[in-house]
Amino acid sequence: MKYGFFDDDNREYVINNPQTPWPWINYLGNEDFFSLISNTAGGYSFYKDAKFRRLTRYRYNNVPMDNGGRYFYINDNNTIWSPGWKPVKTPLDKYECRHGLSYTRITGAKNGLEAEVLFFVPLKSWCEVQKMKLTNSSSETKKIKLFSFQEWCLWNAEDDQNNLQRNFSTGEVEVDGSTLYHKTEYKERRNHYAFYHVNEAIQGFDTDRESFVGLYNEYSEPQAVLEGKPRNSHAHGWSPVASHYLEIELKAGESKELVFVLGYVENDDNDKWESKNVINKTKAKALIQRFDTSAKVNAAFDELQSYWNQLLSVYTVKSGDEKLDRMVNIWNQYQCMVTFNMSRSASFFEVGIGRGMGFRDSNQDLIGFVHQIPERARERIIDIASTQFEDGGAYHQYQPLTKRGNDAIGGNFNDDPLWLILSTTDYIKETGDFSLLDEIVPFDNDENNAKSHFEHLKASFYHVVNNLGPHGLPLIGRADWNDCLNLNCFSTNPNESFQTTENQSGGSAESLMIAGLFVMYGREYVQLCRQIGKETEAEAAQVHVDNMVQAVIKDGWDGDWYLRAYDFYGKKVGSAENEEGKIFIESQGWCSMAEIGREAGLVEKALDSVKEHLDCDYGIVLNNPAFTRYVVEYGEISTYPAGYKENAGIFCHNNPWIIIGETMLGRGDQAWEYYKKICPSYLESISDLHKTEPYVYAQMISGKDAFKPGEAKNSWLTGTAAWNFYAVSRYILGVRPQYDGLLVDPCIPKGWKGFEVVRKFRGATFKIKVANPRSVNKGVAKISVDGKLLDTNLIPVMPEGVYNVDVVLG
Ligand code: BGC
Ligand code: NOJ
Repeated sequence: MKYGFFDDDNREYVINNPQTPWPWINYLGNEDFFSLISNTAGGYSFYKDAKFRRLTRYRYNNVPMDNGGRYFYINDNNTIWSPGWKPVKTPLDKYECRHGLSYTRITGAKNGLEAEVLFFVPLKSWCEVQKMKLTNSSSETKKIKLFSFQEWCLWNAEDDQNNLQRNFSTGEVEVDGSTLYHKTEYKERRNHYAFYHVNEAIQGFDTDRESFVGLYNEYSEPQAVLEGKPRNSHAHGWSPVASHYLEIELKAGESKELVFVLGYVENDDNDKWESKNVINKTKAKALIQRFDTSAKVNAAFDELQSYWNQLLSVYTVKSGDEKLDRMVNIWNQYQCMVTFNMSRSASFFEVGIGRGMGFRDSNQDLIGFVHQIPERARERIIDIASTQFEDGGAYHQYQPLTKRGNDAIGGNFNDDPLWLILSTTDYIKETGDFSLLDEIVPFDNDENNAKSHFEHLKASFYHVVNNLGPHGLPLIGRADWNDCLNLNCFSTNPNESFQTTENQSGGSAESLMIAGLFVMYGREYVQLCRQIGKETEAEAAQVHVDNMVQAVIKDGWDGDWYLRAYDFYGKKVGSAENEEGKIFIESQGWCSMAEIGREAGLVEKALDSVKEHLDCDYGIVLNNPAFTRYVVEYGEISTYPAGYKENAGIFCHNNPWIIIGETMLGRGDQAWEYYKKICPSYLESISDLHKTEPYVYAQMISGKDAFKPGEAKNSWLTGTAAWNFYAVSRYILGVRPQYDGLLVDPCIPKGWKGFEVVRKFRGATFKIKVANPRSVNKGVAKISVDGKLLDTNLIPVMPEGVYNVDVVLG
């Protein structure tokens, strides 16, 4: 069943039934100010950091679901309704939510009145703009009462919900004409406040929640709205809110536009006050002035559209398959940009408090957006590397506001360092900018202990070399990419987190996933050394890579697939010998991509085993058979019920590793089958089962062992976005940046007649036309640039200009 449709021309997903199987959300903002918005206008806003600068309050896991947001209430002759259906839930004559690129447009209509609200965060602005258009399409004059509403968060989203003994006494507001200010804690240690404004004289307001809603009422039935009367309340402590009240008269056929602005301001310490206890509003007024007419708002909206036009013009495909095209051209790239902004911090599954920017996550995310925003990718790499330790190890995350590493969600994950080699080499291949390697970058944010970025990569590489186990394979540490394979943890206390609790020492748990990863990015490191003339280092490093290949072949092969690990006691994990968890996806993916033992048929055999044991209707599960009992020496993985999350769920993040592995073997039909199984646009028609948004990937789909297979969870913030874009754009469609040019090496289903990709690369635009006259999967028979034949399938770096590239497979 569907709840809407794709409008590709407008790059929107249009929801026409508000009761989606889960709130279907969108993100507003691209730089400093961000909002989450659901299809019924639920969600919240924050400045830079969802934990430390939360502007509006949101209660996760509430009943009913998704309760709280930027809400409008219309009281039209005592019929009360909201344009987004919620919170009032009065049945509407029309409902539509268009989620577009960094904007959402929600339209509701009732009894001849239509309210259309456009929500977006203008570029370079610390505010969310809400432009409302009211149209009276009835034949009578209407006198309506309009209430806006948002609830303030007392800035620190964590403290806001647990320190009530203090927080119920701290709230402070100011009211100035049509602007409602929130200034809690401004008088002491904060230099920031927020405001909510409307560009029209108001006839009343509320700033105190209890006065507006009523202590025992709900958002769906605020006392003030029911009675059609604002209270003009001033909050002192308790829960400050912002609600405007407007009386509006609309003649038959008449329309009216209003602009609401939710803004954030920072003042210098010596410039905080206008007079005693009265905040300095100069910056707020300037911000308001930038968006105080519909014309100004429209211009800002056009700018936002151009921004996206430019971002999405770097890679486009025309394949003849609209589901593929809309993912590659619009939604997958859009999701990659959202993961750039959010990492894993704030979604409808991530509460914005627990996790900041992940070291491994942010490095991997980068391969999904580096072509769109290379300068910002460069800055991101430096931010991440600045939190690294001198021995190459890493904090697992940092907070975006402070950019300082912390171990709030653990540390000592031995895969972490290697991802820095991936992000850095990928950035250089995209841009040709080797100067990044010479940047002086601190360790652990200590400016007194800084070395070149190249030295950080070297530290990453040797962190593995210096932490090998008894089989010469990498020690796993707390865990590797699979956060839940906690082989040194042995937790029997439900009050401790698997991610942060002290690990036991003395064990020798090794990871085949890191082994494959090391061979892949170890080779990248070697190649990079060669590129910059560090021959001796390249040779030395190559020895370690070769040794790892041998170690995998000798002690990492189980007979039909690659082992997953050795546990604390040196026993095999992911072996036919095991009762449960005989085979795992991660080591098949990484050792296949690294082509370890390919000549001896290992890669082919491993991928055939994946097909046989891990593949199912909804994608490739993580392990099989699922664990049905708690294995204390394996950790969190075996705590999940069978078929969910890391215990045999379909982790969409690592399906593309297998897809890439398949393309390396030239098995384009298989790669494509796997791609389609988890690609959201192909799942739109089963939205009622799939549950999460049909326009973005989810982290996980329940696997074949689950009670209910096929149900997705944790949409939006997942490395799945980057890896799937990487797999489809670079390995299936096969257009891949290299240090010296653009490689064209597609691996497609035999049935495809061809496709076209337009790729901007280092200033040049390549219009690549691929034909497949012999119905092959892979292999470039002929390639020409502007009619001139090339003798390899690497298009060299070219001067600015547009080039026609013709490729014939066969
Ligand atoms: C989840 C993992 C996640 C980890 C983060 C675990 O509970 O299953 O997917 O990476 O928490 O700390
Ligand atoms: C989600 C985490 O963000 C990511 O870092 C991890 O690799 C996967 N879960 C798998 O556990």
